[in-house]
Amino acid sequence: MYFLYMEKKMISKKMASALNAHLNFEFYSSYIYVSMASHAHHIGLKGFANWFNVQVQEELVHVQRIYNYILNQGEKVVLDAIEKPRNKFDSPLALFEITLEHERQVTARINKLAGLARKENDHATSTMLQWFVTEQVEEESAAVDIIQQLKLVGNSGNGLFLIDKELGARTFVPPTPPN
Ligand code: FEO
Repeated sequence: MYFLYMEKKMISKKMASALNAHLNFEFYSSYIYVSMASHAHHIGLKGFANWFNVQVQEELVHVQRIYNYILNQGEKVVLDAIEKPRNKFDSPLALFEITLEHERQVTARINKLAGLARKENDHATSTMLQWFVTEQVEEESAAVDIIQQLKLVGNSGNGLFLIDKELGARTFVPPTPPN
């Protein structure tokens, strides 16, 4: 038995492999935020938990976008093992400091991918990655804002209560266009 299918490879092997690696890293992003959501819930910060759960959904959208792109370019998505995320955090502030550090890593990876696409004169991939470039500005900015608020309230229980309430109001908004 054999399958007849039309080859439609339109990006380089190197680009496909780099995108696959990034898709796996986005899965890892969702994984660490599940861990943070669980930690926050466990220590009674259900608003923080909500914020991280919304973040998980956003990361899965990032995965889906790259997944669709790789397939539409005639390549195959290859999944890798996901690294174990940390599950101990020193403080509510640490959750967001680690988030910011992680998002900066994601930004660096996106920039590297964009550099490769430019080098290969791969305009389709460059265009696809533009969405991620903009998204990363928002991702980092959101983490910085929350870190600033947490630093302002310090050890105040009331302040933390108010921030928890605010983070509890975050809702997942599916991006447009959807992919
Ligand atoms: Fe998918 Fe938070 O970067």
